[in-house]
Amino acid sequence: HDVSTVTRQKNCKVSGPHVSYTENEVQATLQLQRTLVHTLPDGSVEARPEQLVYEFCTKLKPSKLGLMLVGWGGNNGSTVTAGIVANREDISWESCRGMERPNLFGSLSQHGTLRLGITADGTDVFVPFKSLLPLVEPKDIVLSGWDISGYNLAEAMDRAQILEPDLKKKLRPYLADMKPLPGIFDEQFIAKNQLPRADNVIKTSDKAQQVEIIRQDIRKFKQQHQLDFVVVVWTANSERYSMELAGVNDTAENLLKAISSSHKEVSPSTLYAVASILEGCPYVNGSPQNTFVPGCIQLAEEKQVFIVGDDFKSGQTKMKSVLVDYLVGSGMKVESMVTYNHLGNNDMFQLTDGEMWKPKSAAKSRVIEDIVGSNGTLYKEDEMPDHVVVVRYVPSYGDSKSDVSEYVTRTFMNCPYRMVMYNNCLDSALCAPLILDLAIFTELFHRVSYRTLDMKDFVPMYPVLSALSFYMKIPRTPLGEPHVNALQRQRACMENLFRALVGLNGEDNLFLQTKFP
Ligand code: NAI
Repeated sequence: HDVSTVTRQKNCKVSGPHVSYTENEVQATLQLQRTLVHTLPDGSVEARPEQLVYEFCTKLKPSKLGLMLVGWGGNNGSTVTAGIVANREDISWESCRGMERPNLFGSLSQHGTLRLGITADGTDVFVPFKSLLPLVEPKDIVLSGWDISGYNLAEAMDRAQILEPDLKKKLRPYLADMKPLPGIFDEQFIAKNQLPRADNVIKTSDKAQQVEIIRQDIRKFKQQHQLDFVVVVWTANSERYSMELAGVNDTAENLLKAISSSHKEVSPSTLYAVASILEGCPYVNGSPQNTFVPGCIQLAEEKQVFIVGDDFKSGQTKMKSVLVDYLVGSGMKVESMVTYNHLGNNDMFQLTDGEMWKPKSAAKSRVIEDIVGSNGTLYKEDEMPDHVVVVRYVPSYGDSKSDVSEYVTRTFMNCPYRMVMYNNCLDSALCAPLILDLAIFTELFHRVSYRTLDMKDFVPMYPVLSALSFYMKIPRTPLGEPHVNALQRQRACMENLFRALVGLNGEDNLFLQTKFP
């Protein structure tokens, strides 16, 4: 039986009455079903399928995209930059393994495939995501950003100690001219141990002026490179939580007022986010702090600008959201998960400060809530597995992150199933492709509009962009949408959204015709 798959299709067009292509856009009408659940007076539940009709319109031409990174000179910032440039310039390098070629492994936009359908003789056909809808090519992305450290990107790449010497040598001429713009620095929100590197900071401490400077930076960058669209991604250090205060950051209006009076609880990350939103640029929060205070979310909603958050989901937390999904999904009861991480990069160094660690710790501990909550036969209400995360700073490890996790699960007749997992990877090698994808997919979703039967005009997608939850430890969702942490559900959302935009129903893996011939 032939089960071979076709995976290198360049272009893929959908035909049929519900989809039409013009030179500039693809329009698709889709009947979707959702299941509405009601609890009846006797406590039982009733599920009722409901038909929804959506029309989607997606512009086919990708924008000329600019990507601005907050924390550009950090390990993530310099690694993603080096990767994009090495691929663009096709730079090979010599390592102890021989000659190596650049690639963008780890990126769904470049190497992810989805199941398109089945051939008449029963062969699954998989195609790259980017063959269904055109995406910005990484080589065409123009990079810039801010950093409180004045190292240029070649120096930053050296400081990160991630890439091979021969590759760094070949990249240096390209990266040496890339210099981060001065960043917003506020001692209150960053660990004291970062003070020595803060030599490239915006001179004024007036928060309204700081926002204005960031806005000007974005405008200049756009103009200088004739960009259609800019995405801003926070990949700077985790901040401490800012206090959420009535009258200060609870509404968009109050937040803007608080910025005018330089209120001390408005964090640098919120200032970058506000500046981006006011410039119409989506803002992605790659760290766990509460950048998106209620007033900031409201501002994004009012201005119809995408926000994506919070905290990149790259390593051990990603594994957890797969493994616990497998265990609980198979009807086994996870009793405890204990993880020991150690690494020695600058971000870990700054997380040795207790106040900065709090948001990270909270983000790490929440990644399985929906999975456990999905199984009321194993867990009582409010019952959770014991979940301990220990993190230690070991300088000599640099960016190489190791973690050992032990999972204790009860299976049939309470028999213990003990599993120990060891992961090791360069932290930034896990994160760089995520940053790339977040920029590329955000740009795509910016080209999408929709309407339902009761709407006259097409409108953009909702500003809180939960479609990218796949990339986030604590996915930020619009009111009324549950948080989904399980990785395969998150991926299915991306896959089915791509399918919907070209008029294809969601993947159901049923193979009905062969099961019921
Ligand atoms: P890093 O410490 O190497 O880089 C952060 C950079 O941000 C530094 O160059 C620093 O000077 C700069 N910075 C700090 N505050 C700034 C500000 N207010 N404005 C402008 N620049 C500022 O850290 P790394 O390893 O690159 O990680 C970056 C962020 O990504 C961290 O917050 C981390 O928690 C988050 N993250 C990383 C993951 C990974 O690497 N696998 C996974 C999940 C989140």
